[in-house]
Amino acid sequence: METITKFYRSFKAIGLPSKTIPIVLLLYCFGTLFESVGIGMLLPIFEIINAPNDQNIANYSGLSKTIMDAVATIGISINLQNLLAISFSLFLLRQIFIYTRLVYLPKTKGNFIKRIRDRAFSRYLKADTTYQDSTPLGKIINDLTTEVDRAGNAAIKYMVVGGQILNASIYIIILTFMSAKITLSVLLIICFSTIILRKLFKKVRSTSFLISGANRNLSTFLAEKIKSTRLIRLCSNENLETVKIENQTGTQRDNIVNMQIFLARTSVIIEPIFVLSVFVLLFTSKKFFGLSTGETGLFIIILLRIIPIIKELVENSQSVIALYGSLNVVETRLEEMNQAKERRDGGKIFHGIRKSIEFKNVSFTYDKNRRTLKKINVKILPKQITAVVGPTGSGKSTFVDLLPRLREPDEGKILFDDNILSSLDITTLRKKIAYAPQNPQIINTTFLEYIAYGNKDKSMSSIERSARLSGAHEFISKKPKGYKTFVGEDGGNLSGGQRQKIDLARVLLRDASILIFDEPTSHLDLKSRESFLKTLRKLKTKISKTIIIIAHDIQKISFVDKIIVIKNGKIAKIGSHKKLIQSKNWYSETLKQNK
Ligand SMILES: Nc1ncnc2c1ncn2[C@@H]1O[C@H](COP(=O)(O)OP(=O)(O)OP(=O)(O)O)[C@@H](O)[C@H]1O
Ligand SMILES: [Mg+2]
Repeated sequence: METITKFYRSFKAIGLPSKTIPIVLLLYCFGTLFESVGIGMLLPIFEIINAPNDQNIANYSGLSKTIMDAVATIGISINLQNLLAISFSLFLLRQIFIYTRLVYLPKTKGNFIKRIRDRAFSRYLKADTTYQDSTPLGKIINDLTTEVDRAGNAAIKYMVVGGQILNASIYIIILTFMSAKITLSVLLIICFSTIILRKLFKKVRSTSFLISGANRNLSTFLAEKIKSTRLIRLCSNENLETVKIENQTGTQRDNIVNMQIFLARTSVIIEPIFVLSVFVLLFTSKKFFGLSTGETGLFIIILLRIIPIIKELVENSQSVIALYGSLNVVETRLEEMNQAKERRDGGKIFHGIRKSIEFKNVSFTYDKNRRTLKKINVKILPKQITAVVGPTGSGKSTFVDLLPRLREPDEGKILFDDNILSSLDITTLRKKIAYAPQNPQIINTTFLEYIAYGNKDKSMSSIERSARLSGAHEFISKKPKGYKTFVGEDGGNLSGGQRQKIDLARVLLRDASILIFDEPTSHLDLKSRESFLKTLRKLKTKISKTIIIIAHDIQKISFVDKIIVIKNGKIAKIGSHKKLIQSKNWYSETLKQNK
């Protein structure tokens, strides 16, 4: 019972509509009712066949009489052909319910799987950056494909089990009417076989978790290694990685085979138990329970009908348990993503900054043991170019991630004019901020669509203008299909510098007033670098953009209005180029060394 409710709660949690289970159960219920009454009709049919000349209801007794009375009440005369016709009609009615069920179940499964996938993908997109960063790609893809499919199968099998329990119960009730004693013996046999199978059920459950775990590990391994084939080749690790995958696929195969062994054992054990029970009944029905030949015949027909139902019921129950691991994975994944939902509080429409962006005692931590940003106090002024510099790993990218709220500070506050950043509407905030990250994430589409990604309704001429400003136009126009050329998965058809240029074009196309560039020129040649920095100056003077640029190449940024030096997560120095070179600090020292 506990398992049944646990499954039910899980299905509800991952989005199975409440009406589905009752509909399936009703379809089963009507199907069985028509079938069982149809079978029940066989009793008077047998008796009439036994005594063809006796069609007087009063001469019959028990269930036969009840059925004949019912037929007579609806105005149908009792004879063999009428009874046969009614029995057949009832079977036909049952077929209609079976057909409806057979169509409804896969449709429900399809909808259910689709809904989970849509929901999971949307939740993943809405989860915070930390969650997205820390979830391996292979795991998430596995969960959204294989595991969701398996969870869908579990839901369908669960409902089928419910229907089959109902089916079997209706037959058992009918049997009880015929002979309570025999039915009791049948039930005892069923209980006994369930006890024998309990151990197997437990093994199936634990193996189901092992299968889900192995699926996840394999997907994670594949996603990671397929992305790193160059590294593997350059390190001559092909054989080592092949051995690793052999271990992974071996574990997966073993678990799947074990599961099939447990399922086969159930299947093999259950049938002899039932066949034996039929034999015992055959032997004892007349001697001990005093059933007539007709009643014994009907009893056996019903039993023969129940046996496959119970056999399937046991097998399906095992399959549901076998899929529990996947159901659990999907439920946990959906819940985790919901917990990690990005904070989107704050409703003030953001129009841009007038006075300043101010960090007040802002701290940020990735892992509990070490703070990445420590009590940052700094002001960034509008319509200026601010450069953020500092050693590798000092916290520069983390610092700019806070502005479009990709990450939230643990302490302190960030003010956009007089508004705390978290009070601003996140959608309008992100519309006004254009951000070119350190490692551009390029999606596989055409140059045209990539540059216009997130920039609806942009004209071809404005797209081309941005591409010219970033230096991308030159190489795009040389492609046979120009802007309609595909960039390849993760920009795989492009050089490092070309990737960077199309991402810069994307950012320059945005109608944003704050532009953030994280190492925008790191992959560019000298000429492209100078040309891009010139573009930045133009953007500041001509269209008054507020620009924040992270730069390693500090020789080239002396023109900026303000330089912020971050070292070990702290602000080490702030000032103009002129001011900073007058004292000894990371900026002036690094400049000297690079001369
Ligand atoms: N997603 C993350 N999870 C945990 N730690 C992280 C994560 N991203 C960065 N870090 C750590 O935070 C610190 C600051 O990283 P950040 O990327 O901000 O440095 P950076 O100054 O931009 O460095 P670089 O100049 O190399 O780009 C580093 O020690 C880094 O290891
Ligand atoms: Mg960085």
